Amino acid sequence: RESDGDREYIAAIDQGTTSSRCIVFDRDGRIVSVAQKEHRQIFPKPGWVEHDAAEIRDNVREVMAEAMEKAGVNRDRVKAIGITNQRETTLLWDRATGEPVHNAIVWQDTRTDRLCRELGRNVGQDRFRRETGLPLASYFAGPKIRWLLDNVEGLRERAERGEILFGTMDSWVIWNLTGGPDGGRHVTDVTNASRTMLMNLRTLEWDERILHSMGVPAAVLPEIRSSAEVYGTARGGPLDGVPVASALGDQQAALFGQTCYSVGEGKSTYGTGTFLLMNTGEEPVNSYHGLLTTVGYRIGDAKPVYALEGAIAVTGALVQWMRDQMGLINSAAEIETLALSVEDNGGAYFVPAFSGLFAPYWRADARGIIAGLTRYVTKAHLARAVLEATAWQTREIVDAMRKDSGTELTTLKVDGGMTSNNLLMQNIADFLDAPVVRPMVSETTCLGAAYAAGLATGFWSDTDELRANWRRAAEWSPAMAEEDREREYHNWLKAVRRTMGWLD
Ligand code: G3P
Repeated sequence: RESDGDREYIAAIDQGTTSSRCIVFDRDGRIVSVAQKEHRQIFPKPGWVEHDAAEIRDNVREVMAEAMEKAGVNRDRVKAIGITNQRETTLLWDRATGEPVHNAIVWQDTRTDRLCRELGRNVGQDRFRRETGLPLASYFAGPKIRWLLDNVEGLRERAERGEILFGTMDSWVIWNLTGGPDGGRHVTDVTNASRTMLMNLRTLEWDERILHSMGVPAAVLPEIRSSAEVYGTARGGPLDGVPVASALGDQQAALFGQTCYSVGEGKSTYGTGTFLLMNTGEEPVNSYHGLLTTVGYRIGDAKPVYALEGAIAVTGALVQWMRDQMGLINSAAEIETLALSVEDNGGAYFVPAFSGLFAPYWRADARGIIAGLTRYVTKAHLARAVLEATAWQTREIVDAMRKDSGTELTTLKVDGGMTSNNLLMQNIADFLDAPVVRPMVSETTCLGAAYAAGLATGFWSDTDELRANWRRAAEWSPAMAEEDREREYHNWLKAVRRTMGWLD
């Protein structure tokens, strides 16, 4: 065994939607220290969401320093840095000064709705689906770049002259870590690039035809690299000299951290939104049922591994809404106590289509609804309906996965903040009629980034070694009668239909 002095570590940075975190892991995949800092959510208009990228850059530096201090280890014991990040959030910055030219446009932002409709005119939402695996929706980065180039004065000319760089948060963090204006590496990984709507899923290169249709000059784009290789070395700061050796979008990192390395293995992360990804192997699987085809990961020169993804925009955000906007609960945890005070939903169904519906519908025109109300319904029934909304949305995604891939999801691995809600986890097992399991290390996103960086640098030898680290902490088994499940699902689907076309 290693003595204390020989211990070695990997640091992972998770640049997320609400905060930036740094976690130091040891060789067994155990957490040694964590530091986290929130950043501002900027809402300039209804439907618009922005982040100050300079604030994020500073926060990343701070959490790295704090995590290292808490871990109490010397930086030469840290063998690699792994990066994971909120996906699709789009930034353009000045190559020479390193300063952002506009706030970052966050994935949830809907300002490009109209632009997406125009891009799909006469052709439809699936115009670029064959190449990119994605429907035309405001969620993805490409249309956001176009919006910035069209709306920030003089930006298009500067971009065409090569003075401007584009990146999702992985690129921004890596560029700054590796020197910024002073030689920083302008790269992205295949998983993040697969969310821009500009990368061809099969060649893993920028698609010139799409760049042209979208009006994005190639000069702004980073180089597309694998998810696990050394991109460069950290310059300055608390991890000066340490190789930066992985990048994965946060949902793909969670897939990797949950060790879903075989076809048919999947995970679902329950946060503000929910993202269910299933490994579909070395060929991309087209979706005909409203899912996204995306890159799961690519380790160095190995073949890429693809995934099908079901993205749900609002899950935890609905609980926050019950707390902050409705004042029906005081804390997120209270939703479970309140829901448990009644037997069932009392006939109420809540479809939180607050910013339209993501998978499997992709309907920007949908808005939220509470259906089935009678005077019998209390706030406790609504609390049930809120939790059931997350569970039914999971069921819809799993149904679509089965139809698209022909593969049955036998067990669902879960992670994320909402997995501490036992009633919700039981609902999911019941509605899917499949067991739900949660691992010991719930920080699967950072763990996935650490694993990839560790593989790239020989810290871990192969995925078998990583699999051996996965341990089950909790399991929920289905216990709902088939006829109850079918009746309730039928009611849920009726309620979903009533949300659509609201904006007509
Ligand atoms: O696609 C959006 C997703 O990557 C955001 O994840 O956990 O930062 O909200 P999170």
